[in-house]
Amino acid sequence: MKRRVAVLISGRGSNMEALIAAAADPAFPAEIALVLSNRPDAAGLATARKAGIRTEAIDHRMFGRDRAAHEAAIDSVLRAADIQIVCLAGYMRLLTPFLVGAWQGRMLNIHPSLLPSFPGLDTHARALAAGVKVHGCTVHLVTEEMDAGPILGQAAVPVLSGDTEDDLAKRILRQEHALYPAALAAFVGGNATSVPDSLACLANPLPLASG
Ligand code: GRF
Repeated sequence: MKRRVAVLISGRGSNMEALIAAAADPAFPAEIALVLSNRPDAAGLATARKAGIRTEAIDHRMFGRDRAAHEAAIDSVLRAADIQIVCLAGYMRLLTPFLVGAWQGRMLNIHPSLLPSFPGLDTHARALAAGVKVHGCTVHLVTEEMDAGPILGQAAVPVLSGDTEDDLAKRILRQEHALYPAALAAFVGGNATSVPDSLACLANPLPLASG
């Protein structure tokens, strides 16, 4: 039986779309049973509805500063929908220990850097400023410390001279869309420590300098 997954989004939802597309394969071990957003206007909600997926919006602004109440509302929707695994995909609210604890070991996130490098925001600008030659994305389990949970999978891309933030973001997003479904499938299949090796190496290997 496919595991019931909820995807939490705040915006565009392209990773959510990649998960929905992968889960449409009868052989994929998970189904996207629910897409939930803290923003009622998130573009990804319309995309999910078009794909026939149930959606919910739980607007954080209705809860003022009461993060606990917002998370309690999310948690009860997840439980009522018999969700087994939660995938954060561009969910832009910091979680409190309540929701993290409630889903510990069953909540995944995708982050646009090779963690533990560049946790937090603006990862592509920071990677360019640091002059790294390799950058990428990470799927990890969510723990109380932001972007610091056990790593389930990574995909790397080269940083090329002249790259802009946008170039890097696009190159990495393509890898995110392959990595997240692969990491989720490996996790659900009980193989939480590995994803296919092809995703763990450079997507476009650079030629080795000769001489
Ligand atoms: C992605 O870059 C993801 O790594 C980060 O937020 C972005 C979400 O993009 N957590 P999308 O909404 O999935 O298109």
